[in-house]
Amino acid sequence: MKTFPTHFTWGTATASYQIEGAWRNDGKGPSIWDAFTQIPGKIANGDTGEVACDHYHRMEADVAMMAALGLKAYRFSIAWSRIYPTGRGEVNPAGIAFYDRLIDTLIAHDITPWVTLYHWDLPSSLQVELDGWLNPIVADHFATYAQTCFQHFGDRVKHWITFNEPWVISIMGYGNGEFAPGRVSNREPYQVAHQLLRAHGKAVQIFRTQFQPEHGGQIGITNNCDWREPKTDSPSDKAAAQRALEFFLAWFTDPIYLGHYPACMRERLGDRLPEFTDEDISLIKGSSDFFGLNHYTTMFAAESRPDEGAKDNPYGNGGISEDQDVDLSIDPDWTFTTMGWAVVPWGCQKLLHWIDERYGRPPIVITENGCALADQLVDGRVHDPERTEFYRGYLNACHDAITAGVDLRGYFAWTLMDNFEWARGYVQRFGLHYVDFATGERYAKDSMHYFAEVAKNNAV
Ligand code: GAL
Repeated sequence: MKTFPTHFTWGTATASYQIEGAWRNDGKGPSIWDAFTQIPGKIANGDTGEVACDHYHRMEADVAMMAALGLKAYRFSIAWSRIYPTGRGEVNPAGIAFYDRLIDTLIAHDITPWVTLYHWDLPSSLQVELDGWLNPIVADHFATYAQTCFQHFGDRVKHWITFNEPWVISIMGYGNGEFAPGRVSNREPYQVAHQLLRAHGKAVQIFRTQFQPEHGGQIGITNNCDWREPKTDSPSDKAAAQRALEFFLAWFTDPIYLGHYPACMRERLGDRLPEFTDEDISLIKGSSDFFGLNHYTTMFAAESRPDEGAKDNPYGNGGISEDQDVDLSIDPDWTFTTMGWAVVPWGCQKLLHWIDERYGRPPIVITENGCALADQLVDGRVHDPERTEFYRGYLNACHDAITAGVDLRGYFAWTLMDNFEWARGYVQRFGLHYVDFATGERYAKDSMHYFAEVAKNNAV
């Protein structure tokens, strides 16, 4: 048995739009995902989050289900448009009441809440009236929303995450248009990312000056990154892999830990990369109490060779193609999940070391890791040995990283239950619980029992 450090946090994670449903109940305003899912062709099977897992109505039972399995931490997100139906202005008391009940129920079951303020569901009115994250004023509206959440929930919530995956918000929402709000541009992602960092900095300053002194607690941000392994030992492929990681992760984490964007982005993007003011940097630098990381997969990276057909590479470069000059590829011998993502635990360990070294041993929390598989419910059970293997592999990699000196403090499995998987709708099942979307019933998968055992023993 490999034991994890004492006080290591074990939990599962979810997001409001993916599970809550109740899309217009009790005063909730529409979000950009409510709007985006109505556009024909955007979501597999025309699925929407209107009902999803109906967690809004099944919350108590869901928390009891976690408690029955001995889960001790739960990461969920607040739907901004339940708190402020138009993103700003009057608070909706019913929205506050729902999260009050959720937090109280968790605490009554001895489960520690980890709260994400923004998991992609921007109130629609901020998009339509103000151009969403392109408009610097939205960072101020976010800060006010964050302040409201700290005010109402900060006496009980001690772990805050401002944003989930700014890379996805920027690239998928404003670069390739695959996610809400569905814009396509090679300039807007950099502007949006810039505003997300400013919004994060403003919220953290409010937390640290107005709430942390009295209530304590910690605040951070969650970024996502795959590992990029150099395809060969050549200096140019090594440089390409490094560049790919900088465009993916350091884009967001260099400003937070080092106070500026990576040099390779500044060189390649010129005036498409905005500049921080001194005031921005004073808010952003040092603004994370922990390094939140979502990690799912690994790819090889090579220097782009357009004359050798790089332009036709089906894997692209994982960003905005012309900016990185990186060619991605896979090893066909790897195992793949139904998302097409490779299962490569050693990539997770290498990424942890990369972060550890670049930022001087920050405390890291893996806020998401998991896999989608073609699960089948047979006689009320789901046998998913591949998912158990996935977790075994990645958790061993985490343990090896800790043994080698990485300060990893926690691990959240994605996800508590099958849910609305964004553009892939309900087909992709990532859950530790199987959800029968016709009846809403939940069933713990075999992998859930494995994960609960690991959490209970604090060992893999
Ligand atoms: C992450 C996201 C989650 C979940 C997961 C699997 O990017 O934060 O909401 O969907 O990927 O695709």
